[in-house]
Amino acid sequence: MKFYITTPIYYVNDRPHIGHVYTTTIADILARYHRLCGDDVFFLTGTDEHAAKVVDSAAQHNLTPQQWSDQNAQAFQDTFRKLGIANDDFIRTSQQRHKDKVVQYVGELLKTGDVYPGEYEGWYDEGQEEYLPENKAKEYEFKSPFNGKPLVRKKEKNYFFRLSQYGDALLKLLEDQPEFLRPDARRKEIANRIREGLNDVPISRTGTGDWGIRVPGDDEHVIYVWIDALFNYLSTVDTPARQHFWPANVHLIAKDILWFHAVIWPALLLALKRPLPAQVYVHSFWIAEGQKMSKSLGNFVDLEKIDRYVADYGLDALRYFLANNGPLGINDSDFAEAKFIEVYNTDLANELGNLINRTLSMIKRYRQGVVPAGGAAEFRLDFTAYRQHMDAFDLTSALAEVRAGVVRANRYVEESAPWTLAKAPEKAAQLDAVLYNLAESVRLITVALAPVMPAITAQARTQLGVGEIAGPLADELTWGRLPAGTTVGTVAPLFPKKV
Ligand code: MSP
Repeated sequence: MKFYITTPIYYVNDRPHIGHVYTTTIADILARYHRLCGDDVFFLTGTDEHAAKVVDSAAQHNLTPQQWSDQNAQAFQDTFRKLGIANDDFIRTSQQRHKDKVVQYVGELLKTGDVYPGEYEGWYDEGQEEYLPENKAKEYEFKSPFNGKPLVRKKEKNYFFRLSQYGDALLKLLEDQPEFLRPDARRKEIANRIREGLNDVPISRTGTGDWGIRVPGDDEHVIYVWIDALFNYLSTVDTPARQHFWPANVHLIAKDILWFHAVIWPALLLALKRPLPAQVYVHSFWIAEGQKMSKSLGNFVDLEKIDRYVADYGLDALRYFLANNGPLGINDSDFAEAKFIEVYNTDLANELGNLINRTLSMIKRYRQGVVPAGGAAEFRLDFTAYRQHMDAFDLTSALAEVRAGVVRANRYVEESAPWTLAKAPEKAAQLDAVLYNLAESVRLITVALAPVMPAITAQARTQLGVGEIAGPLADELTWGRLPAGTTVGTVAPLFPKKV
């Protein structure tokens, strides 16, 4: 099976921060999980470069918009590489391969009449690069709900997309295919907004010089940055070698860009008569230390802070925290250092690290480092529920299953007391069985956690004496595959305890 997953493409004007890192890490975890399942995976992230503010920022830095974008897009790529993100491609909207496709798509829409020339006047949020409907502008007292700056009254000749034609089709989509938009609460929210009525939307603008993609057949207008950006999901795989990946299995986004992904994007695809993505999955926001992240409050989890967490606790601990404690549901999550330390010490050091360490140490001590043959199967872990949760993108529940397995295995150590069994020669077979069951638990746990903690699980497997995961997942998660006679390697703590 193929599995195509995307993240939003990030504004190239921003510096990467925990929000971008979060979405991309979650997508990375899901991509790794599906690779482990044996799927043909395509994982896409990238940068959104044709915003008007890119032109201004570039000028302030005495650079061309292209130079400025090159520099900043590189920062995103470097960050993602450093954080272990294994994306299959990185799309930049200023790349020719993308621009050519967008011209083609908009050309098709001009032909069908879904895009037509007209005039537009309204309240414009310059920071967000979007018009606000009159009622919303009023509700926000004509200030940007995002940065508080005054909205600007703007009037321009424009090309419009006939969104008004697609309301019924979109409502039907949400009703017939509820899995198109998850979690459920977001679907209800969007359905209500669609029922309020849809207006045609402007999709072009002037005044950014050469920066942007020209509306075909027009020398003045470039395509509005949001329309240009949404097309990235299609343009990147719209090639002979990759077209089997379309439609996407999931577009992972946050709630800030829900409207564009749940309304504009499917409507554009309907107009183009292209298949729709199977799902738009909408997560919520990280706040930090109990408050909205802001530069002035100093609670912004920026790259420097992220680097510090990685240096202090390891990249995989950060990935675990993001997956386990993040805002995948409809509530925001708090990135608080105290919470991070608690999760690190409890889930990772005390539970997981301890289980691996004591299991391997006991095999060294009682069986000269060789995994004995198991006996009666009085203990086993089962990861069926874990898989169901992973398939439903419910990382928190999937990790809760793994954690429950770790806790059970640790309790099994206490209950079977191998140190007592070791003193009684007639209990040798029983001790063998206990040690085998623990080693096998460790192996299964490394498989289940591999998508979240690729480096740590690889180290744990080296310590256990098993090689890389060969896959597929269904086989790897079958109890009893660890060969007796496996020789344990050098044992060392995986999660040094922190205070
Ligand atoms: N360029 C547009 C997206 C175009 S997609 C066709 C854009 N870019 S952005 O740089 O602002 O990125 C927004 C995305 O970053 C959010 O949807 C989310 O994935 C991520 N996050 C930004 N801040 C976040 C938090 N505080 N918490 C979690 N994720 C957040 O919008």
